[in-house]
Amino acid sequence: MFISPYTVHRHPAFWNEAEEFRPERFAGVDAKERHRFAYIPFSVGPRHCIGENMAMFEMLVHVNRMVRRFRLTRLGDEPIELEAQINLRPRSNLMMQVTER
Ligand code: HEM
Repeated sequence: MFISPYTVHRHPAFWNEAEEFRPERFAGVDAKERHRFAYIPFSVGPRHCIGENMAMFEMLVHVNRMVRRFRLTRLGDEPIELEAQINLRPRSNLMMQVTER
């Protein structure tokens, strides 16, 4: 049996305007009322990712350190094509300009 996180993460039963970048959907009432299996990047159940907490902490630290010090601006404005590998990624490199804050 295969469960597609891509589909679950965009299912209108769980997400409003799923394609929009709205990080606030992960906070507050929205997040509390959502089905507990609606967001499963680390899978769920007995074989779910053993590194979940470490990965989340690592990402928080990296993003926090980066955005405090640098501003990242995307170069180019062509639509970003997605490529489904083990995880979902942009098909081509995303060129960014890094400036110090
Ligand atoms: C963003 C980072 C990560 C994502 C999205 C992720 C995602 C996943 C997913 C979806 C699974 C379940 C695979 C399955 O269904 O069989 C998994 C399993 C696993 N992950 Fe991660 N993972 C991440 C980071 C890490 C890190 C940092 C570690 C170790 C330090 C780790 C160690 C493992 C291990 C050992 C399993 C196998 C667990 C088992 O089969 O009992 N992962 N991961």
